[in-house]
Formats: sequence, C-alpha cells, structure tokens
Amino acid sequence: MEKTILRVLLKSYTKMGRFVEENFHIPVMLREIVDFFFLNPQELTNKYFPKKKVTFVIKETPEVFLDATAGGGGHLFSLINYYQQIFPKNFRKAIFIGLDIDKEAIDYLEEKRKKFGLDNLFIHWENYRNIKRLFSEVYQRKEVCRILFDLGISYYQAKSSKRGFSYDTDGVIDMRFDPIRQEKSALDVIRESNLERLKKILKEFGEEVKAEKIAKRIFQNKDKIETTNDLKKIILLTSGKRSVPRVFQALRIFVNNELENLKIGLREAFLILKNGGRLAVIAYHSLEDRIVKRFFNEWEKEGKGKILTPKPIIPSFFEIENNKSARSGKLRVFLKYEKV
Ligand SMILES: C[S@@+](CC[C@H](N)C(=O)[O-])C[C@H]1O[C@@H](n2cnc3c(N)ncnc32)[C@H](O)[C@@H]1O
Repeated sequence: MEKTILRVLLKSYTKMGRFVEENFHIPVMLREIVDFFFLNPQELTNKYFPKKKVTFVIKETPEVFLDATAGGGGHLFSLINYYQQIFPKNFRKAIFIGLDIDKEAIDYLEEKRKKFGLDNLFIHWENYRNIKRLFSEVYQRKEVCRILFDLGISYYQAKSSKRGFSYDTDGVIDMRFDPIRQEKSALDVIRESNLERLKKILKEFGEEVKAEKIAKRIFQNKDKIETTNDLKKIILLTSGKRSVPRVFQALRIFVNNELENLKIGLREAFLILKNGGRLAVIAYHSLEDRIVKRFFNEWEKEGKGKILTPKPIIPSFFEIENNKSARSGKLRVFLKYEKV
C-alpha cells in the first residue's frame, strides 16, 4: 500500500522515490512542498488559489535550504534530488542543511548522505530553537532561502516501542525526542507531578475536557504505571478512547517543551531567512497550527512579507488514503519580503 503511494505520488518527480525510505517515514505533502519552494507566487496562486490575485513578482533561484526537522530525510533528499534535476548547473553552489534533535535520526541521515555522496549536505544534531546560533557559528551567515518545519513525530519514532510515543505499541513511557540530552521522560513527569500539574498538562496540551478526572486517576496510580499500555488502560477506565491520543499528545508536548520550541524556532527561522525567502510549516494539531497562523498573520501585518497560503493546504484524499499519518497535516507558507 505504502509503496503504491510512493510510486504514484512521486511519479512526476522522477527518481525521487529512491530517496524515501518508507520504513522510516513517508514525507507528507511532498508535492506541495516542492511546489511552494520552487514555483513563483503567480504560478502558486494559479494552481492553489485560482480566485486570488497576485500583485507581486519575485524572481530568484534558491541556493540555501534548511530542513529544521529532517527526520528520515524524506523531504530533504527529495528536494535535493529535485534541485539537481531542475538546476543542474547551480547544484554545486547550493547548500542543503538538515537538523534533527533525535540522534537516531541524525545517524540515519548521515548514513544516507554518505550513501549518495552528497558533499553539499550538512547534518546537525541540534534543536531548531538554536538555529540562529548554529548559523552564525557554523556558517557565518544568516541567509537561508527555504526553511521547512515538518512538526510531530516520524513513523520510525512512533513505531519504536523503546521511545514510548505511541499508544498502539507497548513500551516504556519515554517520549523524549532526545533521550540522550533531555533529562526527564514522560514517566518521570507522571511520577513527579502533583495533581494540579497533571491536570494543567492534560488541559493545556491535550485540550482534554475530562482532564481533571483522568489526571486524578493517573495521580492515584502513578507508582503502578510503567508502560504505555498501563497508561492507556488507566485512561480508558476513566474516559472514552478519544482521550487516549489527547493524553499522549499532552505528555509528549510537555516533555519536549514543543510549543515553546516552536515559537522560538519560528522567530529564529525568520531572522535567518533571506529577503525573498520562504518558510513552510506542516503542523499536525491545532495548538501548533494556531501558533504558526498567529506568527504569519503578525508578520504580514507588520509588513514583513506575504502569506502564500491564505488557507492552509491539506493533503489530498488520495494521499490520506495511502498514508493515514498525513490526515491531520496543515501546510502554511510565508514569503519574507521586507522593503529595505
Ligand atoms: C514528522 S518528523 C519529520 C519527517 C521528515 N520531514 C521526513 O520526511 O522524513 C519530525 C522530526 O522533527 C524532529 N524534532 C522534533 N522537535 C525538534 C526540535 N525542537 N528540533 C529539531 N528537530 C525536532 C523529530 O525528532 C522528528 O524526527
């Protein structure tokens, strides 16, 4: 099933499929990302928002790319391959940078980089909230033409029982993106939190209506809870099955400080983005998407550029049919265009 989507979805971008390892992660809205990175505003509007008018034209060939959440490199390697085909003469000049906070993803990406012999691809084990520092220290520059944030977790992380992200796979309740450098796992949070704090986490980061009841039950059983299955059972004893993903999401967001990271990451990304450059973000839940929307609206109001997606782009029916993890994805893209 997944192989079919790759073959068909990537058909128009010849040879791109060989850069995607579906056991690690299938990139979401790959076609749309390629469009929003390479088509000019006029072509984009004609294709995605035909009723809208475009009043500006920017002609440029992007040369520096940053994937802030490179994961299995599905987007990153596909973009590299696409670039190589479209701008063969420019390829040597172009720079591609991939970050991830997860060391397992970094090792995987490094291996893949070597396999394809790409010496203009640079991989960093880094939190995207530090991109400005990374850029000034390592690259001594602040000019990136295209930046991608593909939020959430990879298929590899979700399926790995030792990572504890998924309620479908039994395992330790860890949920850290960076288990090497992050101190507290989700189980530590459960064990160390008082009732008030647990309630707040479930309410704020899971938007869970039964936060109080579920928090109470978790609190009463906190020393007995060991695995993701234990936690799932506790939630189901108190509430319906819809609460399960919300509670897992809440703990994950809290453990990884995800919303704070996103706010800082977006601000930093804007600072290193070149004038005329584009920032694309795929969010998978409303808390993240609201932040992205608010930042883009503020930047547009302040005259810092233009939102290229008046409405978020969502995956096609066909993509969702073939990759269920894509179903909640929302893509928003901002074009930085400050008059200097
Ligand atoms: C949905 S996956 C990206 C998949 C990727 N686009 C692909 O095609 O394979 C999200 C990735 O973001 C990483 N991540 C989460 N928070 C991060 C942060 N603050 N800084 C850097 N990477 C982060 C996760 O470790 C995960 O690998």
